[in-house]
Amino acid sequence: MKLFPYFIPFLFAIMSPAAELNVMPLPAQYSAQPGHLTIDGHFHIAATGYSEPRLDRALARFVDRLTRQTGIPFPEALKPGAAATLTIRCKAASKLVQQLGEDESYTLTVGDGGAKLDAPNPLGVLRGLETFLQLVVQDSRGFGIDGISIEDRPRFPWRGLMLDVSRHWMPVEVVRRTLDGMAAVKMNTFHWHLSDDQGFRVESLRYPGLQRLGSDGHYYTRSQVRDVIAYARDRGIRVVPEFDIPGHTTSWLVSQPEIGTAPGPYQIERHWGIFDAALDPTKESTYKFLDGFIAEMTKLFPDEYFHIGGDEVNGKAWTASEHVQKFMRAHGIQNNHELQRYFNRRVQPMVKKNGKRMEGWDEILDPDLPKDIVIQSWRGQKSLVDAAKQGFSGLLSAGYYLDLMQPAEFHYLNDPINEDAASLTDEQRSRILGGEACMWVEYVTPLNVDDRIWPRAAAVAERLWSPQNVRNVASMYQRLEFMSRRLEMVGLKHRENYRVMLERLAGTDRVGPLRVLADIVEPVKLYERGESREYTQFTPLNRLVDTARPESDAGRNFRYAVAAKNWPAVRRTLLMWRDNDALLRPMLESHALLKEDVPLSTNLKRVAEVGLQALDHIEHGGPLNSDASAVLSDAKKPVAELLLMAVPGVEALVTTAATGAQ
Ligand code: ACM
Repeated sequence: MKLFPYFIPFLFAIMSPAAELNVMPLPAQYSAQPGHLTIDGHFHIAATGYSEPRLDRALARFVDRLTRQTGIPFPEALKPGAAATLTIRCKAASKLVQQLGEDESYTLTVGDGGAKLDAPNPLGVLRGLETFLQLVVQDSRGFGIDGISIEDRPRFPWRGLMLDVSRHWMPVEVVRRTLDGMAAVKMNTFHWHLSDDQGFRVESLRYPGLQRLGSDGHYYTRSQVRDVIAYARDRGIRVVPEFDIPGHTTSWLVSQPEIGTAPGPYQIERHWGIFDAALDPTKESTYKFLDGFIAEMTKLFPDEYFHIGGDEVNGKAWTASEHVQKFMRAHGIQNNHELQRYFNRRVQPMVKKNGKRMEGWDEILDPDLPKDIVIQSWRGQKSLVDAAKQGFSGLLSAGYYLDLMQPAEFHYLNDPINEDAASLTDEQRSRILGGEACMWVEYVTPLNVDDRIWPRAAAVAERLWSPQNVRNVASMYQRLEFMSRRLEMVGLKHRENYRVMLERLAGTDRVGPLRVLADIVEPVKLYERGESREYTQFTPLNRLVDTARPESDAGRNFRYAVAAKNWPAVRRTLLMWRDNDALLRPMLESHALLKEDVPLSTNLKRVAEVGLQALDHIEHGGPLNSDASAVLSDAKKPVAELLLMAVPGVEALVTTAATGAQ
């Protein structure tokens, strides 16, 4: 496992974001125009040019969402005849099966006379409609859009989100609303991580034991898979399935022990980590099985790409196996890595003969594989550059692991074309197709999956869509806050379920003080949770750490307020934090799930007292607390797998006080 650097940079400089559009991702080009379009009950759409049922459905959804956003019914919206408020011109069809690199551009102009959306194909119309919905705001005139001219197109053709549905089962409705969120931020590739040690999640007709014995009954039927693919296509999203081989395969081997390296028997893995179980790369029966499996799954999933995983094969089963060792000697295979290369070279033609291109995690990088495969870089960005130099296309996911609980800023500034890519030729650089945010779900349930993904995935979406020089972090956060609310209008539940989980913890809807604490903590970062205690698939994920958001807005806003020397706001927040412990303590002490958070609440009070002393010093020259640094360093230690995000802002305040800056 590779650790990514984690920083909380101090953002002193950027407190006044430019007047930018409240749109995410920001368009490639836009300029303000005279005029204003009012959105009222007479809103009417005229769709001209190429039409297809998918566009009709998109327009019906668009009108429903505009109604949800504004509360205004639009009875005339799709009726022929009336003068159009929004004229849409779609030139021609897009591909029947959506392809990588299809044109997604559009132009949108809005003025007094109405709005015009032009696109070469339905994908551009879909993207433009999302922009239109984001532009509608309320002001003193009602709902409307200020005059604007937009010419927009994506920077990268592959803008994805990977969702693991193996460690914890994610029902179809979770997948659907995730696709809605992706479409809202113009992501175009859903990477479905469908099998792993802890569960095999698709119905196979050819090998029904896979789902019968490998899924605890939690798998998608073939018809559900087709529905999801159609749902995604309606939103301009490709669906790339991943079946992770030859490691991460314990759940397969429950029903297919004969293709495993060790004889078994196997049981579904209930723990998290890297396990020894691996397919047997030396037996022809393994390849016969895979040939049938790949033939079946490549028919079910129409996308041109087929992901074979390939990550984290520890090789222990191979090393321990006499017949594998004998095979390696007979074939001159030097080590386990070489053996995995041999395996990949056997699998790739099976994918190819079904008309697909093979994709895998960066472990599969091998100069001898055909150049039409795609490498997904996760252990570090270097593999992306190495792949491009060797002639392979690649995607960046290193730095986009949303499960590692890093702030949006960290992901936002992580660019697929970084300094390492400077050494690439233009042609090599063009092999970098984009990236994917990844959501691994060891510590995620259907109740909190939305807030583990959103709104941070929107920051990744902007990195992959908008021009490279769109990098203003303060502007991003300002728009992300807006987007977070817009995403709820789209149907995501990251805000609603936060309240639901707080009320579950508290057993009441009077959660004010609990929310003050929850708002200012974050789960521990990177892989620390797994190191804190023993977790299995059956461990309840119902604690404050499962409720608290990956990134504390309250913590960031407090740091910004300190940096801006907004002392009245700083004082108000510190007083609230200081006084919260007394209000919250009875609840914490009387609820089994909350007892572990007592020290956290105490720390918040102590840290706030340190902050208030520093502020008194700054404002009135009061005495400085001599044990401030002891309090702060104590409060930095995780409690109940949570970090107190009041600390960085108070540290900055103490530094300001100590250095005499007024
Ligand atoms: C991975 O995170 N093991 C691809």
